[in-house]
Amino acid sequence: ETGAITLDPGYKNTGSCESAITFLDGEKGILRYRGYSIEELAEKADFLEVAYLLIFGELPTETQLQKFNTDILDQSIVNEDMKTVLKGFPESAHPMGVLSSLTSALTAFNPKSVNVDSEEDMYKAIVKILAKFPVLAAWTLRKKNNQNLYNKDTNIGYVESLLKMMFQEDNKKNYKLNKTVVNALDKLLILHADHEQNCSTSTVRIVGSSHAGLFASISAGVSALWGPLHGGANQAVIEMLEEIKADGGDTSKFIAKAKDKDDPFRLMGFGHRVYKNFDPRAKIIKKAADEVLGQLGVEDPILEIAKGLEKAALEDQYFIDRKLYPNVDFYSGIIYRAMGIPTEMFTVMFAVGRLPGWIAQWREMRLRKEPIGRPRQVYIGETHRKFKDIANR
Ligand code: SDX
Repeated sequence: ETGAITLDPGYKNTGSCESAITFLDGEKGILRYRGYSIEELAEKADFLEVAYLLIFGELPTETQLQKFNTDILDQSIVNEDMKTVLKGFPESAHPMGVLSSLTSALTAFNPKSVNVDSEEDMYKAIVKILAKFPVLAAWTLRKKNNQNLYNKDTNIGYVESLLKMMFQEDNKKNYKLNKTVVNALDKLLILHADHEQNCSTSTVRIVGSSHAGLFASISAGVSALWGPLHGGANQAVIEMLEEIKADGGDTSKFIAKAKDKDDPFRLMGFGHRVYKNFDPRAKIIKKAADEVLGQLGVEDPILEIAKGLEKAALEDQYFIDRKLYPNVDFYSGIIYRAMGIPTEMFTVMFAVGRLPGWIAQWREMRLRKEPIGRPRQVYIGETHRKFKDIANR
């Protein structure tokens, strides 16, 4: 009656889970995928290798990677009727809303990918979504720019074909790939690939636990990632930095706003539920931002504003007391911008990076035959009451 709960001894507490995929130590700022440090993977691996590692648990041999890549390429054509679904959206639609809808629509064109119980059928669904998701992601940009929709160029790499589908100009000869952009995007996708039980991954696991199918689970994950407190923060960071720039570059006002309890404004790209130290990904991305902008010859004043804001916040007692540090979203948008990726597409790039992690977590949950997710609550509502006729209310 008091609202406190005692878990029945036999209750399967499905609010949290065991997982062997990603390890975080928030105090020490450690992130490892299947035991390998994020620093080593970002430096030495490529995105498809890391996707394989996350999903199957081991770094692939040459043969395994080739077969994985071939199996993905074999599935990269997206059903023509999906273009009709896309055409139904207004140009003003946010790419994340379009991507979530298109991902769910994939189920309609691939019905055999829904009730998958065997490892073999799971694998078929996995290579399908790995192949088609980047095509859909690129189409969300093409839709905004009212440009032709291309399928994957199967003669080039995973990241290269994503860039080409996004930026290939209509009626022009081949899109010229820039090695710096390809390498930087590959690294960013690795850094975003998984992050244990964050909001969107927990969403994928809980939707998948009802056996709703992989594509529907990923679609739900895209919707969760969209929020500005989660993946949508990378877009919100740039909008915040632009506002600071427009306001003369004075960061102190924004620091004060972020500390004001009566003001809902938060310093976007700062803070984290787990990291109470520097997000190791933020460190790598900050370094990469200097390198990429230098190599591309891009002078972006908001990089200096970002560094000034970071310095001011890290020296401010409010942020120090709450152990608030820059997170993965603080610098990533500056690199995306330098690559020519529009701000509204930043969270779509986060989703393309996070896809292998969502898949790995879904596969782990299904292979472990976990029960349907059912987090508990602490009831704090009314105790039992008798019904009152409307005349007596
Ligand atoms: C991602 O979970 C993951 O792993 C996510 C992610 C991934 O890879 O999947 O890492 C990706 O989502 C990174 C986070 C991106 N979001 C943002 O940058 C939005 C801004 N950050 C905050 O909204 C916040 O820090 C969260 C949402 C990230 C974390 O929120 P928590 O853990 O619920 O922290 P909290 O709200 O309890 O804050 C604790 C205190 C509060 O102050 P007090 O009430 O104790 O006085 O810190 C304050 C908060 O007001 N605080 C901030 C702040 N973040 C927390 N104050 C100002 N600016 C901020 N950014």
